[in-house]
Amino acid sequence: METNVALEIRNIAKAFGEKQVHTGVSLKLTRGELVGLFGGSGTGKSVLIRSIIGLERPDSGEIWFEGQDLTKLSERNLTAIRRKIGFVFQNGALFDSMSVEDNLAYPLREHTQLSELEIQERVERMLTLIDMKGSNLLLPNELSGGMQKRAGMARATILEPEIILFDEPTAGLDPVNTKRLVDNVRKLKEKGMTGIFVTHDIPAAFEICDKIALLKDGKIYAFETVDVIRRSTDSFIQSFVQGAAHK
Ligand SMILES: Nc1ncnc2c1ncn2[C@@H]1O[C@H](COP(=O)(O)OP(=O)(O)OP(=O)(O)O)[C@@H](O)[C@H]1O
Ligand SMILES: [Mg+2]
Repeated sequence: METNVALEIRNIAKAFGEKQVHTGVSLKLTRGELVGLFGGSGTGKSVLIRSIIGLERPDSGEIWFEGQDLTKLSERNLTAIRRKIGFVFQNGALFDSMSVEDNLAYPLREHTQLSELEIQERVERMLTLIDMKGSNLLLPNELSGGMQKRAGMARATILEPEIILFDEPTAGLDPVNTKRLVDNVRKLKEKGMTGIFVTHDIPAAFEICDKIALLKDGKIYAFETVDVIRRSTDSFIQSFVQGAAHK
C-alpha cells in the first residue's frame, strides 16, 4: 500500500439476506484528507463506516489499515484498531450517568497511562476546542443536542486517532449548531486529521471536505475532489448535489 494511503477499501460486498447493500465498494483514503460520503438513504453509508471498524463483516473484499486486512481480524485485535480509528455516532453516544469531563476522560483512563493531571489538561484543551469550556460537570441530559454531538465528537477524538469516521454528525442540528460542529471538524482537520464524513448536508461537506465519494447501487459511483463534483455535468451527480436524488 502506498505510504500516503491511510486506509484502503478493496471491492467489498455485503448483503443482509436478500438485500445486497454493497456490490463492490472500493475507496482509498489519503493521509490528511477528509472525504465526504454521500448517497441516498439506505445506500449503505453507515454499513460502510461500521464495516471499517469491524461492527459489520463484509461478505467479501478487504479493508487495509497499517498493513492489516481489518475484515480478517478477531474481535480482540479490533479493539486495538478502534483506538486508532475514531467513530462519531450520530447521537453522540455519551454515557448518561457520567459528567461531560468524565465522558471525555474515559477513553484516556481506559487506554492510556496518562496521569490524572495530564488527563485533566487534555480534557480542558478538548472542551476549549469544542466551545464547551466550563461545561465539565454537566450531565448529557443537561446539554443541548448540539452540545451532545460536539461532546460525542470530542470523546471519539480525544485519543487522537489516525482516522476519524463521522456518521451524520450534523443530522438534526439547527444552522447555528451545524456551523459550530463544522468549525470544530475544521479545527481537527487543521491538525492533520484523516477521515470520512457521512452526511446529507451537502453544503457543509463542500465546505470542509477535500473529496466526495458518492455511493449508488452498491458501488462508489464517483470519487472526485469537491471542485470536480461541483462542476460535474453528470446528470446523477448534478441531481444529487442539487438535492433531488436523496428524497
Ligand atoms: N443489521 C442489519 N440487518 C439488516 N439490514 C440492515 C442492517 N443494517 C443495515 N441494513 C440495511 O442495509 C441498507 C443500508 O443501510 P445503511 O444504514 O448503511 O444506510 P445509509 O446509507 O446509512 O442510510 P441513511 O442515510 O438513511 O442513514 C438498508 O437497506 C438497511 O435496512
Ligand atoms: Mg446511515
